[in-house]
Amino acid sequence: MTIEYSIKTGRPEKQRCGCIVLPVFKDGKLTDIAEAFDKLTSNSLGQFLAKGDFKGDAGEVMFLYGISQAASDRILLVGVGEQDKLGFANYKKAASAVAKRLDESGATDAANYLATVASDKLTLAQKVRELVLSTEDALYNFDAFQSSKEKKRRKFKRMTIFVNQRRETSTGETAMTQGVAIAEGMALTKDLGNYPPNICNPGWLASQARKLGRKHRKLKVEVLDEKQIEKLGMGAFYAVSKGSKESGKLITMQYNGSGKKSAKPIVLVGKGITFDTGGISIKPSAKMDEMKFDMGGAASVFGVMQALLTLELPVHVIGVVAAAENMPDGSASRPGDIVKTLSGQTVEILNTDAEGRLVLCDALTYIGKYKPETVIDIATLTGACIVALGHVASGMLCNNREVGDALLDASQSIDDRIWELPLWDDYAEQLKSNFADMANIGSPGAGTITAASFLSKFTEDYRWAHLDIAGTAWKSNADKGATGRPVPLLMEFILKHI
Ligand code: BES
Ligand code: MN
Ligand code: ZN
Repeated sequence: MTIEYSIKTGRPEKQRCGCIVLPVFKDGKLTDIAEAFDKLTSNSLGQFLAKGDFKGDAGEVMFLYGISQAASDRILLVGVGEQDKLGFANYKKAASAVAKRLDESGATDAANYLATVASDKLTLAQKVRELVLSTEDALYNFDAFQSSKEKKRRKFKRMTIFVNQRRETSTGETAMTQGVAIAEGMALTKDLGNYPPNICNPGWLASQARKLGRKHRKLKVEVLDEKQIEKLGMGAFYAVSKGSKESGKLITMQYNGSGKKSAKPIVLVGKGITFDTGGISIKPSAKMDEMKFDMGGAASVFGVMQALLTLELPVHVIGVVAAAENMPDGSASRPGDIVKTLSGQTVEILNTDAEGRLVLCDALTYIGKYKPETVIDIATLTGACIVALGHVASGMLCNNREVGDALLDASQSIDDRIWELPLWDDYAEQLKSNFADMANIGSPGAGTITAASFLSKFTEDYRWAHLDIAGTAWKSNADKGATGRPVPLLMEFILKHI
């Protein structure tokens, strides 16, 4: 973790530290905590705000110095926008702006009063947890391969999160602990995603799983290699993997914290294409580097396992990663090839770039042996999902209302957004093949749904939901990098499940 957190109550002017962070509403309207501070410091804020330099817009920050009645070195005002509009969006803006500003400052610690602000839309737990998540997200950086740049030594080290009442501290502490674990999980997810594809290949992912297993005794790790994948009858998985000189791996990480051997597990299955060239149906070269993020689903499974191990939650969760590299090669699959899946159904591969569903369908059949209570697969599966939902929401499709609703509910309460698309039978028509049981692509239109529809033919024996994170797993352009999504969603789903 980049920062150390703690929960406290107490008056701001009394805090002896590098900085006191005080929230202010739009147009300089004081929040309760800022007003109390103002009264005890001879109207210090009122006088300053009257000058009109600080508007209180969400994410606006400004340092104040020289307030003699305050014990801290400086005050950081942070705008949270209009009082009645204060929800996740503005709160996140404020929390990240504070983190960035503090990190650039000379302060080593801060007393942050942001979570004391009143909001109809956010509970105390949400405010505290989000403060940790936004801070860690704002301060994340990936410099493992930047040798020339001077490695940044972080001065800012401690943040005390203030709550209004003593009786709120235990809620605050639970939320803080969850926030820290989720943020650590997200950082792992981001790191794995950001690693270059010449290092982060299926074998390397397997070694990362083994490393996690060595660190935590409670994690059982198993790895199947390409030969075993083929021998077990996973013809679709093998068809993708065989085009690369890197052996594909089916990685299983089992964590049973339930205390009961017989507890039915939640199984998470992540698409782990460590690089997607498209195969023989090769992709255009623009932005192809971003196809190193095609293992984002797998990376989120790692992130969740890591967070579960930190929190030692009483749940049984099995994380499965279907890792392969999709390459064009003399031994690569051709458009027109027909393969037999582990389920016995045959698939005509009409497009080798629709590889995610090929590795996933066999992984989804394989995990049937665990008699899962619920299965969620997470995949950067379709460009069509970006057309439909952009980079805001992940796509969600399910074969069970309860699971779908639980995911929608978790999504709302941790603000890791998803949007449901229909999985009606009509769409399955598009997958008809003249030569096999089904084709691996549909006729044009509804690409995200036909992909899910393909997977649904392998998930009939259990409650299942599919998350298409093609638009949400990473960002492009100047802030190119993995986002750590949907680790918050999955963790909230599991936490609410207990
Ligand atoms: N990994 C891609 C999907 C993707 C593309 C995610 C761009 C994020 C950005 C996936 O394997 C793929 O290539 N899907 C094809 C499916 C098509 C051939 C039916 C796609 O979306 O074009
Ligand atoms: Mn592809
Ligand atoms: Zn892909």
